[in-house]
Amino acid sequence: MSRNHRLLVKNAKQVVLICNNGEKFLTRHGMNNLSVIENASVVVGSDGLIKAVGPAETISARFSESSFDNVIDAAGMCVLPGLVDAHTHPVWAGDRVHEFAMKLAGATYMEVHRAGGGIHYTVERTRAAAASDLLASLRSRLQRMQRAGTTLVECKSGYGLELQTELKMLEVIEEASRSLPISISSTYCGAHAVPKGKTVAEATEDVLQVQLPRLKELMSAGRLKVQNIDVFCEQGVFDLDSTRAVLLAGKEMGLNINFHGDELHPMNAAKMGADLGALAISHLEEVTDEGIVAMAKSKTAAVLLPTTAYILRLPQPRARDMLEAGVIVALGSDFNPNAYCCSMPVVMHLACVNMRMSMTEALAAATINAAYALSRSDTHGSLEVNKHGDLLILNATRWEHLIYQLGGHQELIRYVVIRGNIV
Ligand code: NIG
Ligand code: FE
Repeated sequence: MSRNHRLLVKNAKQVVLICNNGEKFLTRHGMNNLSVIENASVVVGSDGLIKAVGPAETISARFSESSFDNVIDAAGMCVLPGLVDAHTHPVWAGDRVHEFAMKLAGATYMEVHRAGGGIHYTVERTRAAAASDLLASLRSRLQRMQRAGTTLVECKSGYGLELQTELKMLEVIEEASRSLPISISSTYCGAHAVPKGKTVAEATEDVLQVQLPRLKELMSAGRLKVQNIDVFCEQGVFDLDSTRAVLLAGKEMGLNINFHGDELHPMNAAKMGADLGALAISHLEEVTDEGIVAMAKSKTAAVLLPTTAYILRLPQPRARDMLEAGVIVALGSDFNPNAYCCSMPVVMHLACVNMRMSMTEALAAATINAAYALSRSDTHGSLEVNKHGDLLILNATRWEHLIYQLGGHQELIRYVVIRGNIV
């Protein structure tokens, strides 16, 4: 008999669709009213896209089991959409375990940075690393993320701070994307720090006159795919004016604006980004009231990173204020040598406990809204017909176990499926 479907997941105790009306994002009310069905099944076609999702009896009446390459009996289990990690820095050499000890002893992030550590430490090692070594470590980090349920991840460059290494990083990201099932949204972040020995003006000039023009050439020739532009807008790093100039230049090249703002000091970066039509702004621990209002109005996603505030003992991002104001709140792991976390379930747990989000808000923030922040919510972030067949199957009768359990997710997440294939 001809098999024309890739995967049937049948009889799940719960299937969490997230939304089912083609919404591109959810805000407060929607985030608290996720679409969940009981005793349900999901069908993924041979193209890796969802063909049907609904009550188990309806699906079994419509599809013969013999038409599937693979059938998973999910009785007593829960199905959720694959998780989306909206912010990571996963390409780098060396680690900074010694700095973790310094920070525990009281050093601040900027003290370590100004002393030549932090991003500078990683830049030196990443510049010296062979592309093949960067690729090997990136692949193993992405596989860890996949095992923890991430099926779409944003990956930044930004540990080169000069053309050659920034391109090396972006090429490594593209190579990983070709060779792993996980989907990737790639971000150029050449303005992640001011290189040692340069002024802010010189670093901005290098990004505008050297790095971006070459990136544009490679993108136009189809030799490199990049989707987003990022800058670390911060006191002592890139100020508002230089950040705006870089973001605008990226926007003119067709990149989505998705940058670091208002992390350590209130700079009104959120307002500036919203005015530029940013798709997303990350961190926002020090966001201003004006910034919150502007982001809600411009539909700019707030990508909150609970690991950063936790590790650096910063004030928590004002998730509740942003949700009340109607901001599109998303989550990311911020995986980097400072915040070594590959797990979106841990991120959701921290968002609930430390940022006072509800579990449904955290799940929406780590699925549909994170996909929106990457301009991918037409294909990712919910279990809807024609979206990617990316899902998690949990060995639990209630989906909330994914957030309730802190760590040890290998036991809980029974299967991770990307485009209908178990990975
Ligand atoms: O998002 N804040 C700037 N960038 C990263 C940290 C990068 C690093 O410390 O290597 C962040 O936390
Ligand atoms: Fe970051």
